[in-house]
Amino acid sequence: MDKAKRPVVIAGNWKMNKTPAEAKTLIEELKPMVSGKKGCDIVLCVPYVDISVAVESTKGTNIKIGAENVHFAESGAYTGEISSKMLKECGVEYVIIGHSERRQYFAETDETVNLRTKAALAEGLKVILCVGEVKEQRLSGITDEIVSIQTKLDLAGVNADDMKNVIIAYEPVWAIGTGLTATPEQADETCGVIRSTLAKLYGENIAESTVIQYGGSMNAKNAAELLAKKNVDGGLIGGASLKAPDFTVIVEAAQ
Ligand code: 13P
Repeated sequence: MDKAKRPVVIAGNWKMNKTPAEAKTLIEELKPMVSGKKGCDIVLCVPYVDISVAVESTKGTNIKIGAENVHFAESGAYTGEISSKMLKECGVEYVIIGHSERRQYFAETDETVNLRTKAALAEGLKVILCVGEVKEQRLSGITDEIVSIQTKLDLAGVNADDMKNVIIAYEPVWAIGTGLTATPEQADETCGVIRSTLAKLYGENIAESTVIQYGGSMNAKNAAELLAKKNVDGGLIGGASLKAPDFTVIVEAAQ
């Protein structure tokens, strides 16, 4: 399938930023800037406490709301956690799973990432599944193996039919919040490795129709070049998603 047939998805990951009041202000600023831009799907993944105001403020607009994580159990004694059903009932459509910050600071493993992914899909949420290598792995020349094994482990037991609700975000850990961006060639090549892994798991059709984003210091300046690459179908954007004008430039670059 040619790239033009895949949707482009531009998603913000606000991380631990913006109170509900600040979230409302940012969304009100962003709404008119991106309204009418039809060339891509626009998603804002926000902190749990911002979900209700974000869902309310984006009703009837072209902005969809996502969460930044989800637990794998349906309910129970998991203090501080949130289930897929809770997210769904709040109007959430997307959820980021397996972000490197979760893996690094909160001891998430491919096993728990896989459990979360299956739980979210079972509830009808769209999953943005993050994979990516750390700097030492890139320097050792094992990036392809790392992203391929993460993709396989994180998707274990996910059936072909559910893949229409899975987006993969390739986020090289060394590029997150560092101002270091993968070159467009590196991003394209590694997104291509992920696509070949999907082809082995699910066949060419699913591999060619799955959206694969790049994330890691994507900004208003470098977005167009990255998004022009044939295997890059969008972006997962941290810092630049907190500024409405910058995020809008990225959305425009995806048109
Ligand atoms: P930055 O865009 O701030 O580098 O963050 C990327 C990211 O982690 C998105 O999930």
